Amino acid sequence: MLSTTPPSDRDEAARAVLRRNDRGGFTVPNGRVYPFQWNWDSAFVALGFATFDLDRAWRELETLFEGQWDDGMVPHIVFRAPADGYYPGPEAWGIQRQPLTSGISQPPVAATAARVLHGLSGGDSSRIRALVPKLFASHRWWHETRDPDGTGLVTIVHPWESGRDNSPDWDEPLANVIPQVDVAHLRKDLGHVDAAHRPTHDFYNRVMTLVEEAKALDWEGGAVARKLSFRVCDLGIQSILLRADRDLLTLAEELGFTEEAGALRGWIARGERAMPRLKGPDGLYRSLDLRSGRLSEAVTCAAYLPLYARTALQEDALALKHHLEATRAAAGFSVASSDPRDRRFDATRYWRGPVWLMMNRMIADGLAAYGLTDEANLLRRDSGDLVRQNGFWEYFDPSDGTGCGGPDFSWTAAMWLSWAGSEGNGQALTTL
Ligand code: GLC
Repeated sequence: MLSTTPPSDRDEAARAVLRRNDRGGFTVPNGRVYPFQWNWDSAFVALGFATFDLDRAWRELETLFEGQWDDGMVPHIVFRAPADGYYPGPEAWGIQRQPLTSGISQPPVAATAARVLHGLSGGDSSRIRALVPKLFASHRWWHETRDPDGTGLVTIVHPWESGRDNSPDWDEPLANVIPQVDVAHLRKDLGHVDAAHRPTHDFYNRVMTLVEEAKALDWEGGAVARKLSFRVCDLGIQSILLRADRDLLTLAEELGFTEEAGALRGWIARGERAMPRLKGPDGLYRSLDLRSGRLSEAVTCAAYLPLYARTALQEDALALKHHLEATRAAAGFSVASSDPRDRRFDATRYWRGPVWLMMNRMIADGLAAYGLTDEANLLRRDSGDLVRQNGFWEYFDPSDGTGCGGPDFSWTAAMWLSWAGSEGNGQALTTL
């Protein structure tokens, strides 16, 4: 049923979600399920804040980088202040630094968000100048520490790094991780969210085994990249990084960071050359298990991200247009996080089926860049309808749009303000 909330009230409700989840310079994705600062959430949240409070938007990126490690890694969680209700908290990661952080990263959207904020900041470049060296260090970490042999394909060592935690993309590589721990009794997520919307216990046992493996290596970046029993090139991160490289290159060129610009050009060229290795026989891109050398069988929502990276060919765009049409006919709302015709599809379980608005935003940006504007507009409309009908949920069942996971979610509110809510929002940042 369509909600009767007037448009301007919905914009105000979205701003209220961000303000409520603001903990003073950083935003929690959702106060109950995720009570800390998350890496790519903050980048998307910054885009939301940018529609009504640019200073606060910059602050979100700045606080995220306060968690950056000396080797350049930007952790996936910064545990800014103690909070109950989340497992694995700081003690499970065992990392001795301040602020406390996790030991793995997440999709590097920050440079893209920073480029957008810079574009809105008029002539004032003080904040972007301070951020560029930090962004550059994080990109170097991906391209060097996480690509130790210089193949052009970066490695993730944990499914959570992808941000698509329990995607079918990780089924095969995770099957080779032998669970060494049983953490079912430690989980706190099931106290907040329906178990049918969350990953299984078996999944948690395997992913926490990876954390134990990294702890045994003292979290040394080079050793982690080479030795963990999960080593995958995630099509999502690979694409998001190449796109962010381009955005960072634009900034570096404009601001006179000449050396950095040179390194970025080299990484982009190397990454682009490697992309064909991720293409399956059907012409659709996939993630690659670097241990087995096998491409993922699943075609997930990440398949569209080479468009966002601008590394796809025009013929790839056509294949993706057909894929979108077919999956949309099967699912209802787009983009389902995995193919609804696939036996692994699960309409409500997290990254195995549901629609996520920030994925739609990146996919729509890519579709539009390849001239698929009708399809891009369709995703924007679907995303807007999901919020209009249900509210700012973490993710949505593609078959009927039911909200899943946690309510009042920061990045969903941010995507409404900056993109999906076309009504009454003069400051929507429709392009990335
Ligand atoms: C879940 C999502 C991840 C997100 C985090 C906080 O772990 O899979 O992408 O960053 O929640 O919202």
